[in-house]
Amino acid sequence: MKTICCALSAWVGLIAAVSCSGPASREGTLPVYRDETRPIEERVEDALSRMTLEEKVAVLHAQSKFSSAGVPRLGIPELWCTDGPHGIRPEVLWDEWDQAGWTNDSCTAFPALTCLAATWNPEMAALYGKSIGEEARYREKDVLLGPGVNIYRSPLNGRNFEYMGEDPYLAVRMVVPYVQGVQQNGVAACVKHFALNNQETRRHGVNVVVEDRALREIYLPAFRAAVVEGGAWAVMGAYNKYRGEYCCHNDYLLNGILKGEWNFDGAVISDWGGTHDTKQAIENGLDLEYGSWTNGLNQGSSNAYDNYYLANPYLELLRRGEADTATLDNKVRRVLRLIFRTAMNTQKPFGSLNSPEHLAAARRIAGEGMVLLKNDAETLPFDPASMKKLLVVGENAVKMMTVGGGSSSLKVRHECTPLEGIRAAAEPTCEVLFERGYVGDVTGSYNGVKTGQDLTESRSAEQLIADAVAAAREADGVIFIGGLNKSEFQDCEGADRREYGLPYAQDRVIEALAEANPRLAVVLVSGNAVAMPWIGRVPAVVEAWFSGSEAGNALADVLFGKVNPSGKLPFTFPVRLEDNAAHALGEFPGGDSVRYNEGIFVGYRWHEIREIEPLFPFGHGLSYTTFDYSNLRLSSDRMTADGTISLQVDVTNTGSRPGAEVVQLYIGDEESLSERPIKELKGFEKVFLNPGETRSVTMTIDTDALKFYDDREHRWVAEPGEFSVHVGASSADIRLTGSFTLR
Ligand code: BGC
Repeated sequence: MKTICCALSAWVGLIAAVSCSGPASREGTLPVYRDETRPIEERVEDALSRMTLEEKVAVLHAQSKFSSAGVPRLGIPELWCTDGPHGIRPEVLWDEWDQAGWTNDSCTAFPALTCLAATWNPEMAALYGKSIGEEARYREKDVLLGPGVNIYRSPLNGRNFEYMGEDPYLAVRMVVPYVQGVQQNGVAACVKHFALNNQETRRHGVNVVVEDRALREIYLPAFRAAVVEGGAWAVMGAYNKYRGEYCCHNDYLLNGILKGEWNFDGAVISDWGGTHDTKQAIENGLDLEYGSWTNGLNQGSSNAYDNYYLANPYLELLRRGEADTATLDNKVRRVLRLIFRTAMNTQKPFGSLNSPEHLAAARRIAGEGMVLLKNDAETLPFDPASMKKLLVVGENAVKMMTVGGGSSSLKVRHECTPLEGIRAAAEPTCEVLFERGYVGDVTGSYNGVKTGQDLTESRSAEQLIADAVAAAREADGVIFIGGLNKSEFQDCEGADRREYGLPYAQDRVIEALAEANPRLAVVLVSGNAVAMPWIGRVPAVVEAWFSGSEAGNALADVLFGKVNPSGKLPFTFPVRLEDNAAHALGEFPGGDSVRYNEGIFVGYRWHEIREIEPLFPFGHGLSYTTFDYSNLRLSSDRMTADGTISLQVDVTNTGSRPGAEVVQLYIGDEESLSERPIKELKGFEKVFLNPGETRSVTMTIDTDALKFYDDREHRWVAEPGEFSVHVGASSADIRLTGSFTLR
């Protein structure tokens, strides 16, 4: 009711203030474009018909770092964007990346998207989207620059932590509810980076060479689903090139696929500085230009925005008749649609910031995403009630991880570090000691946001190890917390990792601790796979990801068994870097061009076809309980071209704790003229079970699950013949198999 009253009074004010000609509704009182009872297309046409040429061009480019103009004369509001994708970026100055110094812009940090993907739970993606959308809304943002769905091709990509893993099907299932959750707040999701932005090295110019089949089967499905199923209102072009054209103005990707094949009706927004040419920007599908750098002399110091490729240079072409108005109007329509759906939507909720619900959501998603990689002799969970002394070792136990990493860096109201979370859960019954173990990166600032932590350390590396080992000998249990961080060449935008191994000689610390105390749990905080040469000597390993504001509490929940882990890996951990396809075939990061020689054989598809044993396979994740799979039944042993098959399997919790299992369904094409992966993920269900409980899980597939992209015919094809069904707890832990025939 309150919303409606506000909206009405805003209308009345505007009607008085706006003088414009054109059709009106409601007995002539309300211009059509402002009448929210009218279909959006009518309103767009009406607004368009009232705009001057200058006003049209003005809505197609930025007016500040993160905003673009509306139409002030008509009362059409500005559009405000924000990063994304893990929390709402703090306010920056109008024209600078530096902080604006606001004191009301601290947010909740949600776990990184790798962690969300590792929940394998679309309900968590919906909760994430809804919650971050509410924070965006409260901060009066219209476009959230996220989620990112670039496929995990190499463990060295510095931005993998912002994406949803190596498998298109998993990313599809997770991105759709995220987008819908954000947009139910009247905030647009801007899905990024379209497309093929799979590395940071030379990201501003590298030309990706990839066969059509891999493009369609691996790299595009999550974008397609975000648009077609999720109804995303905005898409961000990538920095890199594809087919020799920058992706921000790429005819094939934007006009051909996104707007043509997928009927995307929203706006294509450039990545910040991803636009390079006026004519191409006009013709090749870009709608809204942001972040262009001008030359800083005659263009840039005071008049940068006028000199954007889609600003004065476009206007001049239009005035000279060298650019057509149909293309212009198409762009303006898209931007108006975006504004009407967001900034000018008076029915949208007000949102909320740092609510207890958001912190609870962050903790829940983090707890559900953490992956128990190894747990010999039931080392975990630790029971602090039965321990006198617990030792925590490692810089990542105390280092804030929400600051850094590039554009996803945040300014949080609150961040619980692992050590704080462990102490809060274990003390006072159990004493928690801390030893640094190694020194990584003691800095902690990004664009003026400072963690304020003093992590300086004067002891030598040898001394740090000796001190940690001495303390470990006295402890009832040891938790090493290391991994990567958000500094350059780690998990960070703008550069890729330089090595697959753990940085800062952490392997030495882990090995020394393993000798000193057999009750050792290694916790990795990272957004990427890492080498684990010590894996045989460490009984328990947890992948905890970058898990946001509630990182420490969520980790303590898992380590002490309050939460029974149910996360599964969204990407493969190879033993060695050379075991990853992109590296095996020698093209990462490439030169001016990078060839995706592995084609569709990305991640587990490569490991399986080449029989390369991974360190931890895609889909892997243990629990403190055990699950039994039985009784796989198929609704039929034959599928027809337009038919479906349902699979049912019984899953029983055979251990003594309640827990959740992700039941995974993979399909293999046994008779194919084309080369196909051994099997591919085509279904999954997360099922919660009490001890002794059995549930039957049903998954239904249609012929889409059987198809490959035929790049000679340019269409999706399901070949008749036999298909194998593999149901299990990971891609490498298949418990039941079956088969059916496609007629
Ligand atoms: C990043 C985008 C981000 C934008 C705005 C770019 O450098 O690639 O992901 O949304 O900056 O901060």
